[in-house]
Amino acid sequence: MADKRVDELLESMTAAEKAGQMTQYFYFSAPPGKDQQPKAVEKALERGGAGSLLYVYDPAEINRLQRQAIEGSAHGIPALFAYDVIHGLRTILPVPIAMAASWDPEIIERGQAIAGREARAVGIHWTFAPMVDIARDPRWGRIIEGAGEDPVLGAAVAAAQVRGFQSAGIIAGPKHFGGYGAALGGRDYDEVNLSDYELWNVYFPPFRAAVEAGAGNIMTAYMDLNGVPATASRWLFTEVLRDTWGFDGFVVTDANAVRSLVVHGFARDFPDAAARALAAGVDMEMASEDPANDHLPEAVDSAALDVSVRRILDAKARLGLFDEPYVDEARARRILDDPAHREVAREAARRSAVLLRNEGDLLPLDPAALGTIAVLGPLADSKRDTLGPWVFDADVDETVTVLDGIRRAVGDRVRVEYATGVPVVQRLVPSMFDGDGSNVQADPPGFDPDTEFDRAVAVAAAADIAVIVVGEWQNMVGETASRSSLDLPGRQLDLLQAVVATGTPTVALIMNGRPLDLRWAAENVPAILDIWYPGTQGGDAVADLLFGAVSPAGRLPFTWPRTIGQIPMIHSHTRSHDPDNQSRRYWNEESTPLFPFGHGLGYGRISYHDLTVDQPSVALDGTVTVTVQVTNDADRETPEVVQLYLHQRHGGASRPMRELKAFRRVVIPPKTTLPVRFPIGPAERRYWHPISRAQVLDPSTFDLYVGGSSTATLTTTFEVTA
Ligand code: NOJ
Repeated sequence: MADKRVDELLESMTAAEKAGQMTQYFYFSAPPGKDQQPKAVEKALERGGAGSLLYVYDPAEINRLQRQAIEGSAHGIPALFAYDVIHGLRTILPVPIAMAASWDPEIIERGQAIAGREARAVGIHWTFAPMVDIARDPRWGRIIEGAGEDPVLGAAVAAAQVRGFQSAGIIAGPKHFGGYGAALGGRDYDEVNLSDYELWNVYFPPFRAAVEAGAGNIMTAYMDLNGVPATASRWLFTEVLRDTWGFDGFVVTDANAVRSLVVHGFARDFPDAAARALAAGVDMEMASEDPANDHLPEAVDSAALDVSVRRILDAKARLGLFDEPYVDEARARRILDDPAHREVAREAARRSAVLLRNEGDLLPLDPAALGTIAVLGPLADSKRDTLGPWVFDADVDETVTVLDGIRRAVGDRVRVEYATGVPVVQRLVPSMFDGDGSNVQADPPGFDPDTEFDRAVAVAAAADIAVIVVGEWQNMVGETASRSSLDLPGRQLDLLQAVVATGTPTVALIMNGRPLDLRWAAENVPAILDIWYPGTQGGDAVADLLFGAVSPAGRLPFTWPRTIGQIPMIHSHTRSHDPDNQSRRYWNEESTPLFPFGHGLGYGRISYHDLTVDQPSVALDGTVTVTVQVTNDADRETPEVVQLYLHQRHGGASRPMRELKAFRRVVIPPKTTLPVRFPIGPAERRYWHPISRAQVLDPSTFDLYVGGSSTATLTTTFEVTA
């Protein structure tokens, strides 16, 4: 039915109308009383229709614009409304790197399903998410938007997000294909030079998993990849994405990336740019101003546009937009207010936090044993920062800060004293996301930095416990938020040191989207809990963790370096000729990480034992079943993330000393041992070989390591024979 309508449309459309379908126009909602700008729909209709609009999220406005698109175009084709629904629309989930730190595809899928439900209710049909770019350089601010350093974790997180969004009836658009996370120097948008070995084995697997999960769209990357702008790479979008992986959705560019082919010094002019992006396999251009795709009719034959236009119209038909293009505004409001969504956000924040250190079991805190809690730091009561970046339609006032959460949890039983202590730090170069300043935290009225620091220290000294929130303000991480240092901005380390010096037991909560330099804290602060930017219900979730209602079970999705000079640092490096000295490479610093990949503590007492493989030897296409016993000796139920790492001893390439191959989050009842099983077969052993330029399997001896982090010591081996 839909296909027939699409066929008829294609037959009757002019080349200009087809080019219009192949264009996505920026449309920012205007403040009340002001003119809308840019008048994207009007402009698009003059040119023959609008394939899509981005950045509108008000259901009434979407309905109005949709009506204009349908009634204004000769063929009545509805527009796709797209938006960056990255970690929630109204209900804000923890930021993506935090969700990845849950190592829990179930909560990730559930989280993005509510994000998708809210989006679909207001009329958004498509999200520019998930970002599945591997990030191994924490200077790059967009590390916060992905799942970290590892392809296996990244693939699982990517697939879970795609399933979640699409279960709610919106299109997921994994981005940015490909290699965007490896920007030179961690500088956002800079060129990327990656070997095919790294692309196939590290950077591609999350994209492939997203495609296999059924993603309906893929977004191109801005930068040059090995000398060719990614957006014009036929290899990426036709040979790999479609011909090898069978992707059958449509490809959109990142913003203005077709026009930018000229800026890159690649295309001669806009017609050339439009023709070359089309030839690469790109279907739609995202454009903030005069699109290069306007020039398609002069650059190529009308029939050459049909494949792309068909993909776009098919997507609209599948969403049911030809039959039901409008949304019910009252229903949208009800869905945005759904308390069940807030519960999912709270659960996601609980599962995302990573307990980095807990000397002397300082955590969990027992409110009954406390008279006064000092809550410190400007991030502790900042609603906007608690949400993190990439948030547009949230109800900021509704956000529960750490201070709110602690107050709510202890009620009248414990005094809670709050001091900011240090000034808010502003970016030296303002962010394009700062808006009119309302998106940035400011010091409270009457703030005096000279007296406030001492007041905060005095508040800590007089308390039974100090909870200090340190980290980066949300606009310091994300797009165009690269950093040349991982230090805690401003005077936060001074405050942390002064608070610890009072002798009051101190808990540091880290609010961040990238690893920060915590060398001092890791030796001197007894308890460190990474809470990331925990979202709408963040403060309540943090209180649940601090007071032990739930045990933390998040695990690091990246290797946490000691210092920026160690970057890049990954768990899956190969063995050098001198492995015994692997940790003694710098003369001024250990060459081990501060916290390894996969690290995270909990409140239970977990041990791993009896690691077995069901067969000592299998053929190349065979699968072994690995079993490990995991015991929780504590009196409380404890979630644990069981991780399996593999090492191939010899073969056609020097394979990494350890590679994550499987993991599972399990909840272990008190005083219980659970067996956990993993099949390890060809899929886990296969890799892309740089000389045969194909996926290969080697006969070899394989070492297995199973435990609670990438430094797990429990090990066994099995053989794979030719
Ligand atoms: C640019 C970003 O790189 C991309 O991730 C985002 O989806 C688009 N802008 C649209 O906001």
